[in-house]
Amino acid sequence: MSLSVFIAELDALASAAAQTFASAADAAALEAARVEFLGAKSGKLKDAQKGLGTVGKDDKPAAGKRFNEVKQAIEAAFAEAQTRLDASDAPVAAGPPFDPTQPGRRPRIGHLHPLTQTIEDLKEIMGRLGFSVAHGPEIEDERHNFEALNIPQAHPARDPLENFYLATAEKISGAPMLLRSQTSTVQIRVMENKKPPVRIISLGRVYRPDTADATHYPMFHQIEGLLIDKHVTMADLKSTLRMFASSYFGGEVHIRFRPSFFPFTEPSVEVDMQWNDRWIEMGGAGMVDPNVLRAVGYDPDEVSGFAFGLGVERVCARRHQVTDIR
Ligand code: DAH
Repeated sequence: MSLSVFIAELDALASAAAQTFASAADAAALEAARVEFLGAKSGKLKDAQKGLGTVGKDDKPAAGKRFNEVKQAIEAAFAEAQTRLDASDAPVAAGPPFDPTQPGRRPRIGHLHPLTQTIEDLKEIMGRLGFSVAHGPEIEDERHNFEALNIPQAHPARDPLENFYLATAEKISGAPMLLRSQTSTVQIRVMENKKPPVRIISLGRVYRPDTADATHYPMFHQIEGLLIDKHVTMADLKSTLRMFASSYFGGEVHIRFRPSFFPFTEPSVEVDMQWNDRWIEMGGAGMVDPNVLRAVGYDPDEVSGFAFGLGVERVCARRHQVTDIR
């Protein structure tokens, strides 16, 4: 065989192989093509190699070189087809490629309102001191908001302009009704329904027609505490409030009592707490007035008690260093 015929045959073989490999649609087709062209026993390349022995002696080196080039080209075409089929087997990537080296994105989750957190904390702290939680309605009658609390008709706290009286609720119930102005109402509701001893707190919304500013709002929250038992003293009140303040603010918190007046306590005090070198007004407290005990059918010669009412916004604002409750 002449060199040129040999080379022509090789070239035809190379392009046939390339075409067959390129059109193989799946692994089985490619494998069949591989056996056809590259098969070790009877592949077409193997056949072509036999022609090498028939070219003239002087043409051998050129023919051998050409044979090797074609062999490499066919093997390369096979490898390329293999890569193509492997890639099409892989799952189709959706969206931009995933980069595992990127820092994670922290999901933005919400949190409880600071007031709700404070309320939960206060319940937990007072629970440890043995106080259970009592509830009362936000729409109240005058007995629970005033009368049983020893607040007489002429008292300025009962001024209709200092309260949210509810005309519609009055029409339904037949008696004056108002949004409660203090959680002290719950003291009465608990004592009406339970014999002493009593050890409760009540947390909730109260309403007063105040103009909103940094420290006032027409709706705010109070925590009310009431303890009734035999031989309760002012010292019990003070140590309870001090433990309460220390637990909530953390560390040693000093308590100060200033003489004051509330119709439902005698004696009555204003409670200040020292925090970060400042005295902060927290609310009122005192020993439950005998008239209040009598109003709920308790005997003031048998039992005594203390009560306190603190502003939840105040303690919350202190701890979170918020200067405007709005
Ligand atoms: N109810 C009072 C207020 O809203 C606060 C208060 C003072 C509650 C003294 C008490 C108390 O239980 O003993 O201003």
